[in-house]
Amino acid sequence: MAGPEAGGSLAVPNVQQLASSSKDVPIRYIRPELELDQVSNDENSQIPVIDMSKLGGGLDDDDDSESAKLHSACKNWGFFQVMNHGVAEELIRKMKVDVQEFFSQPLQEKMVCAQLPNDIEGYGQAFVVSEEQKLDWGDMLFILTRPVDGRRMKFWPRIPSSFRETMDQYSTELEKLASSLLSSMAKNLGLDPEKLLTLFKQGMQGMRINYYPPCELATKVIGLAPHSDGTGLTLLTQVNEVQGLQIRRDGKWIPIHPIPGAFIVNVGDIIEIMSNGEYKSIEHRAVVNPVKERLSIAAFHSPNFNAMIEPLPDLLLKDHEKHAPHYKSVSHQDYLQLGARSKIDRESRIHQMKIQPPSGAVKIEGPPSMVEKS
Ligand code: OGA
Ligand code: NI
Repeated sequence: MAGPEAGGSLAVPNVQQLASSSKDVPIRYIRPELELDQVSNDENSQIPVIDMSKLGGGLDDDDDSESAKLHSACKNWGFFQVMNHGVAEELIRKMKVDVQEFFSQPLQEKMVCAQLPNDIEGYGQAFVVSEEQKLDWGDMLFILTRPVDGRRMKFWPRIPSSFRETMDQYSTELEKLASSLLSSMAKNLGLDPEKLLTLFKQGMQGMRINYYPPCELATKVIGLAPHSDGTGLTLLTQVNEVQGLQIRRDGKWIPIHPIPGAFIVNVGDIIEIMSNGEYKSIEHRAVVNPVKERLSIAAFHSPNFNAMIEPLPDLLLKDHEKHAPHYKSVSHQDYLQLGARSKIDRESRIHQMKIQPPSGAVKIEGPPSMVEKS
């Protein structure tokens, strides 16, 4: 059974093909509600930029002020950019070229890597569960790149011929960068970095390569609908110079302006859970450009299969005090299951993980200025 009941995705059109064959935009992509969204035009409101050369990989010679900046970015923004990250410029350039070459092939060639029913890997579109569901204006190629022995090469493009080798190197370098960031984050949380790194050792890494065709009705469609990443830590590269990533903050959408050569990093749901809510997994989306195609590569990093998904026990015992966990404790397997049934489930996964205050308890909300992230 390959329907949504079994966790599968319904077949939907290839958007790149659709966009190139006609100027008409089918009604299933049109989202009238987008008009109500507020997009910030405050150019000063941008995510923090962290200089990794000042972090020292979580060692004792860290520059305290840069560590503090990272801590504040994870707490107050959930998103930041990293520069001087140590991933070779040439490798990033090669990865971008290979990705663009893959998507520039005829549909038939790309379909060699097509998604199969009930499978998350491969070339296709995001998960679709009902015929009525609105669709995103984008295609993607998703592959699980780590653990290495779990790679399913049939989903890895052979064209361009350098793709597999480049992706292998890119995967290795990004996993190093993710570990280095996790180490600094652990330190900032007052934890032994080794303990967090152990959970991510032999961890999962997935690469989602997004392709958003141009759309004449760009303001009426969405490339990637609002979501938070269910994984641990995401490292995103914008492939060409077309912008489109926006994050939700104080009820508005803030367009992100990527710094050339930097990675955009965001805290995913798993880090929010592990930090017991101190770090925030922020909702974000991708908008499309009216005339230019846009591509991005999102690298998701998660703990290994043996790790428990829970507030870190050491954190709950910090300061000689027992802190209450704000999230449940589940096996990684069960965590993935929470979101396996449908897109709706996936979106509410973090909510299912939250420990609700006892019923009858009154939640006191401050005036808007107090609940705003500061
Ligand atoms: C994602 C994502 C944003 C972008 O793939 O999860 O949020 O800019 N992508 O493509
Ligand atoms: Ni995302």
